[in-house]
Amino acid sequence: MGRFATGVTVCTTVDQKGELFGVTANSFSSLSLDPPLVLFCLDLKALSFNAFSEASHFNINILAQEQEELSSHFAKSGTDKWVGVNFGTSESGCPVLPNCIAVLECRKRDIHDGGDHIIIVGEVEKFSNDTEGKRPLLFFQGRYNGLPA
Ligand SMILES: Cc1cc2nc3c(=O)[nH]c(=O)nc-3n(C[C@H](O)[C@H](O)[C@H](O)COP(=O)(O)O)c2cc1C
Repeated sequence: MGRFATGVTVCTTVDQKGELFGVTANSFSSLSLDPPLVLFCLDLKALSFNAFSEASHFNINILAQEQEELSSHFAKSGTDKWVGVNFGTSESGCPVLPNCIAVLECRKRDIHDGGDHIIIVGEVEKFSNDTEGKRPLLFFQGRYNGLPA
């Protein structure tokens, strides 16, 4: 799978107690244009599994090339991921990371079985991509990359 080059996202949500969750995910994909559906796959063993399973909304923060550190940060399992991280929140209460290439605000629509992952499908309700000129963070063969100049 490492031979398939991808972008990198941080998927974020909030649980009913107001606790925030964020997970680095490169399984993000566009699914449907009408309605606008997207998906990502989440490991059954992720600490954020229950939060994403039960959440009504989530955000997909698509990372820019300069955000490799954020990617590594949210790829570490843990409960104190938001300490020292600069973020805002969307209407749904889910975290928004600044300076991303784009942020998709999604209402969760379906969850499907996917072996040792679940497939989380969301309908995009709103998006922002006000960071014109930014270049994407890429992941290929276990390493971060950027687009060639
Ligand atoms: C580039 C990259 C892509 C990743 N993609 C996914 C993914 O698509 N789904 C997933 O469940 N974990 C993925 N991971 C691993 C999670 O980010 C990692 O397990 C994270 O610690 C889970 O957080 P949690 O246990 O706090 O919920 C990825 C890690 C990296 C570095």
